[in-house]
This record gives sequence, C-alpha cells and structure tokens, in this order.
Amino acid sequence: MSQNPMYYGTYLQLEKVLDAQHPVSFNEPNQPAHDEMLFIIIHQAYELWFKQILFELDYAAAVFSKESINDNSEDLNLVRHRFNRIIRILELLNQQVSILDTMTPLDFLEFRNLLTPSSGFQSKQFRLIEARLGLQIDRRHQADYYKRTNEGGFTSSDYNTISKVEDERTLLQLVNCWLERMPFFEEKFWQTYKGSNGTEVTHHPFWSDYRNIYKTGLTEREQSKIIDFDYVFFEQKHETLDEEQMESLRSTFSPKALRTALFIMLYRDFPVFQTSYQILDSLIEIDHLLSSWRHKHLIMVRRMIGMRVGTGNTSGRGYLEGALNKHYIYRDLSGLSTYLIERKKLPKLPDELIQHLGFNF
Ligand code: HEM
Repeated sequence: MSQNPMYYGTYLQLEKVLDAQHPVSFNEPNQPAHDEMLFIIIHQAYELWFKQILFELDYAAAVFSKESINDNSEDLNLVRHRFNRIIRILELLNQQVSILDTMTPLDFLEFRNLLTPSSGFQSKQFRLIEARLGLQIDRRHQADYYKRTNEGGFTSSDYNTISKVEDERTLLQLVNCWLERMPFFEEKFWQTYKGSNGTEVTHHPFWSDYRNIYKTGLTEREQSKIIDFDYVFFEQKHETLDEEQMESLRSTFSPKALRTALFIMLYRDFPVFQTSYQILDSLIEIDHLLSSWRHKHLIMVRRMIGMRVGTGNTSGRGYLEGALNKHYIYRDLSGLSTYLIERKKLPKLPDELIQHLGFNF
C-alpha cells in the first residue's frame, strides 16, 4: 500500500495552528482593532516557546532524578546543551517585547476591555516553568492572590496541573541533591593535602584554609562577611546575628550543596569541573533572563496602561514590580560570588582528588 508523501502543512498541522487567531474585536458589534491580531500572535508565539522550555526542563529533571549520574556520560552534557537552548529561547523572548512595543497605548485601548478578566497572569505554562525551576508558593509575591480559581484566576483544571507540578521535586531540589552527592571532600582524597595548618581547624582542612584566606582578603568594611560565611556554609550562628539577618542569609540550597557549588565555581578552570560549572552557570543565566523579561514586560506594561489595574485584576504595575523583586529562583547560586577568592590564592588540590574526579556521583 503506497503512503501519501509527507506534506509540509500536514506535518506541522498548520490548518489548526493558523486557524487559532480570532481577534474578538473583529466580531459584531465590535469595531475591528487592527493590533489585536499582533497581540494574539505574540502571545501564541510566547506560549509555543514556553512549551519548548518545559520540554527541556522535563528532560533535565529526569536526568537529575536518577540516583547517580555519571559525570562522563552524555546525560550531564545534554543537560548543559539543553539549558543553553533554553537560554537562547529566553534571549529571543526578551527581544520579542520590542515587537509588541510597536503597538501604541491607544491601539491597545481599542480592544483592551474585551479581554477582561483574562491576563498573562493566567499563563499555565509560565507558572509551570516557574514551578519546575523551583519557585515555591511561600516565596511568591502575593501568594494568596496567586492561588485562586475565581474570576481572573486559573481554571480548576489549570490550577490542579500547576499544583501537581509544585508538589513534585523541583529542579532546584534535584540539583541540590546532585551537589550534595559529589564526593569531593571524602577523607581518602585529602590524605596528602598540604594545608596551611591554620589555627582554626574546625572544618575539613580545605575549608579551614579557605576560610582563613577569605577572611584575610576582606576589607575593613567587609569584615562581617566572615560571619555570613560561617552561617551560610556551616550553619554556625555568631552571637551578633539576629533573626532578620539569619533569615536573609537562609538559602534554598543546603550548606553542603552550597559548599560544593562554591568549590566548582572556584576550580571551574579544571576541565573535569567544566560541565558541572556550566550547568550551575546556566541556571543563574536562566534566572537572570527571566528576570530581565519581567523587567521588560513591566516597562512595556507601564507604558501601555500606566497606573491602571491589570485586566487580570492585580494592581498591574505594583504586582509586576513585586514579582520582579521577589521571583528570583537561583539567587543563592549567583550570591556565591560574595565568597570567592582570587585564583592565585586558591589552595592546591591534592593529586588523589584530581585523579578520582569524573566518577559517578
Ligand atoms: C499589551 C501588552 C500587555 C499588557 C498591558 C500586559 C499587562 C499585564 C499585567 C497588568 C499583568 C499583571 C496581572 C494582571 O493584573 O493582569 C501581567 C502579567 C503577566 N503577563 Fe502581561 N501584559 C502584556 C503582554 C504580555 C505578553 C506578550 C506576555 C507573554 C506571554 C505576557 C505575559 C504575562 C505573564 C506571564 C504575567 C504574569 C507575570 C507574573 O506573575 O510574574 N504579557 N501582564
């Protein structure tokens, strides 16, 4: 039996895709608003790219869910590669805002009221990206407002899907476990380590040395950073730390995972740390690009609707500013720069460790 040859439009299901743009202002008795077509297409383009981002994030989550990941296998390399793809997509999504900027506030006003109470606030896929990456409900701006199914909120079905993903282990938690599993500080690798034998050997010899070097490098105004260091990496509470300071230092990663992440950042120039380093760096970059998009979107919204409330019934600009300030997911990874030291001061790693790196963890 001969099969029909594949046809471009059939393969891409273009009949469906291209029959999905129906501006409501084109329906009687409304006045057709020319720019509503752009408004629909740009949102649909965003949603298609969100779909691809979720696809890549699901792959990464599946890899990090494995009990052990071989550092020399294709797994980590593919995660790195696909995170890089997400970065490129987010760069594009940032640029896309300028296309919408060709619509003026007056153009928007021609159809804006017809959209109420729908809003980008209800984008299920955007929420799934946030949830999959690790934005927890209790860290959200206006958490109560977010979790609702009344008018302007989510449908019950979208709400359930989002809640389900929020209950799963997030990428942040999976990466935390991966970092915790890394065996860099096992005693057997440090038998020949020649530390500086400083006076405060309270930790692993590497960290005792590192703490001393870090402390010595702090300027007069930065002296309190050593107190933060002890709390962030070793949960040691200095008597001068109050509850508010501890809260601001408390991380979404465990101290053990943060120590490993810092170690990888410090020794990133060793080829064996490259993939792990790039994965951590990609997560920081993804967070950064999402935040950059929030900022661009906010500026665009400010121009488009000024101080008016959003169609989704938030305070509009105020809500978006809150989300922009609060919805960083990998802030604790980018914050590790606070604790770096100069390359030339890095302790020399023992040969045993270098030789054994690259095994399963
Ligand atoms: C004329 C253009 C736009 C205006 C005036 C606008 C306005 C707003 C406003 C006011 C909000 C806050 C929620 C509300 O009360 O409605 C919001 C949220 C949101 N919008 Fe837009 N928006 C526009 C275009 C877009 C586009 C093209 C996207 C792409 C998908 C988008 C995605 C979102 C998302 C994801 C949120 C939730 C943000 C968060 O919770 O952090 N918006 N928008």
